[in-house]
Amino acid sequence: MSLAAIKSGERYLADADATAAFGRELAEALRDQRGAVIHLRGTLGAGKTTLARELLRALGVTGTIRSPTYTLMEPYELPERRVLHMDLYRLDAADIEQLGLDDYPPSETLWLVEWPEKGGAGMPKADLDLQLIPMGEGRKLQISTAA
Ligand SMILES: Nc1ncnc2c1ncn2[C@@H]1O[C@H](COP(=O)(O)OP(=O)(O)OP(=O)(O)O)[C@@H](O)[C@H]1O
Ligand SMILES: [Mg+2]
Repeated sequence: MSLAAIKSGERYLADADATAAFGRELAEALRDQRGAVIHLRGTLGAGKTTLARELLRALGVTGTIRSPTYTLMEPYELPERRVLHMDLYRLDAADIEQLGLDDYPPSETLWLVEWPEKGGAGMPKADLDLQLIPMGEGRKLQISTAA
């Protein structure tokens, strides 16, 4: 399977468990795909890290999965691929060079990027853009594929 299994459109995620379930669905879609760039957008507390955490867990990350709130990036080495979980909220776009992102080519690395808009023009473009929008008690999920 590849990201092509995930279709553009809208879904309603009624609670945090539904966000987690979508994370697992995404992991399944990524099974045979090493690299991809996934943007996770939405306001503070929208559920981006919740989604990323469950995706990372389903991909095989064990142990604590920290939010990259202050470190800006948390890399993971898995048997099949590298994963880079980023939160660029606190990034000054001028400092992007210092992250050493060249070591993580998107062809071989799964990029999960919270606050991608803070990364500026140097960021690789998204293969999948996910936007979480608070709605009622839950979240609306807007899925946009690159194609
Ligand atoms: N579909 C949902 N419905 C209701 N609550 C949800 C849903 N998904 C996640 N949440 C809850 O919303 C909160 C989201 O926190 P989370 O850290 O994931 O947000 P974030 O988007 O990463 O924020 P930040 O921009 O600060 O990094 C958590 O308390 C989580 O349980
Ligand atoms: Mg977060």
